[in-house]
Amino acid sequence: MWLTCSSIGRKFVMALTGTCLVLFVTFHVAMNAVALFWPTAYNSICGFLGANWYALVASMGLALLFIIHIIYALWLTVQNRRARGNDRYCVTAHTPGVEWSSKNMLVLGIVVVAFLVVHLIQFWAKMQLAEIVSDSPADWSSVNGAPAAPEFGTLYLQLAFQNIWTPIVYIIGFIALWFHMNHGVWSMFQTYGWNNNTWMPRLKCIGLWWTSIVVALFIAQAVVFTVMAQKNYYTTNVELQQQYGEFWGEQATELNEEFTAEFAHFVKQEQAKGADQNAIMREFFTSPKCEQFVAKANAIAEAAAKQCPDLTLQSVEMLSGAAHDVEQSIEYAKSLNQNN
Ligand code: HEM
Repeated sequence: MWLTCSSIGRKFVMALTGTCLVLFVTFHVAMNAVALFWPTAYNSICGFLGANWYALVASMGLALLFIIHIIYALWLTVQNRRARGNDRYCVTAHTPGVEWSSKNMLVLGIVVVAFLVVHLIQFWAKMQLAEIVSDSPADWSSVNGAPAAPEFGTLYLQLAFQNIWTPIVYIIGFIALWFHMNHGVWSMFQTYGWNNNTWMPRLKCIGLWWTSIVVALFIAQAVVFTVMAQKNYYTTNVELQQQYGEFWGEQATELNEEFTAEFAHFVKQEQAKGADQNAIMREFFTSPKCEQFVAKANAIAEAAAKQCPDLTLQSVEMLSGAAHDVEQSIEYAKSLNQNN
């Protein structure tokens, strides 16, 4: 097949996957920019792009693009080295920066991939992957002592950028990305055949500006996120706390409703069998689900108190009250058991 068997076909695959990755990186920097000006909206976008089916399909598509791009890069490098020794690219470049990067695309790509590995461990694995794996707060990463829901990008910005190594590693990655992407965009146009004397200098200029704006924005974001995280902005800002509070409020209401419905269903079932009230109490409140409810309710109350210390959350208070009542009912049921 042309895309795999011929050298120009393989370069075309590189160009096509590279174009998609450039578009992704551009979208990504724009999405991060929302976090600079409107952190609560950023969290809403992260929630929307969480572990929903369309986000998972997009993530798998993206992973495939990266994999194809990397495999073809290695393939072309080996092929070029075999054909031309160290003179790997047939195009002679005269743009400063491009010439050096054209000779070092593989190394630059490896630095970008190394950054990407660190980045995905810090964000994707704790957000989208964590959401797929578990919906229990006990399994999520903890930020300042409270579990961070995977939909709250700002809490993960706090976690990543409070570590001073993060901006250093990121800025190294961004510089490599600048060289890699600058040459990549230029080379991509070349592969598409848009290399006439009039358009090539213009396209080079567009590539240079595009890459520089994207990378400058990434660097600015890393700096701002670091400054904000050092000030604990993402855990102390009241608007953000309200958003985190809404989440814990929903969790509290859901748990309370689920437990109440379960209890009502149990009572109805046992009454239909003719069981008396004491027997129903004994049976229900000595079952493990009641201890589990109390533990989950306390965990939610503790998380909400730590993550939203400046707020009073009605539904969380209601849940705590219900958990207290259940605890007393457990004691009562145990005493009934002992008396029998
Ligand atoms: C300041 C810089 C950056 C920040 C703060 C940032 C932030 C994030 C966050 C929060 C996510 C998780 C989204 C989610 O799973 O819901 C993410 C995912 C990702 N980021 Fe970044 N990012 C930055 C730079 C970059 C760069 C430069 C690249 C590529 C070269 C990149 C590639 C990715 C990829 C591939 C994913 C996974 C996307 C997916 O889940 O489909 N990021 N990033």
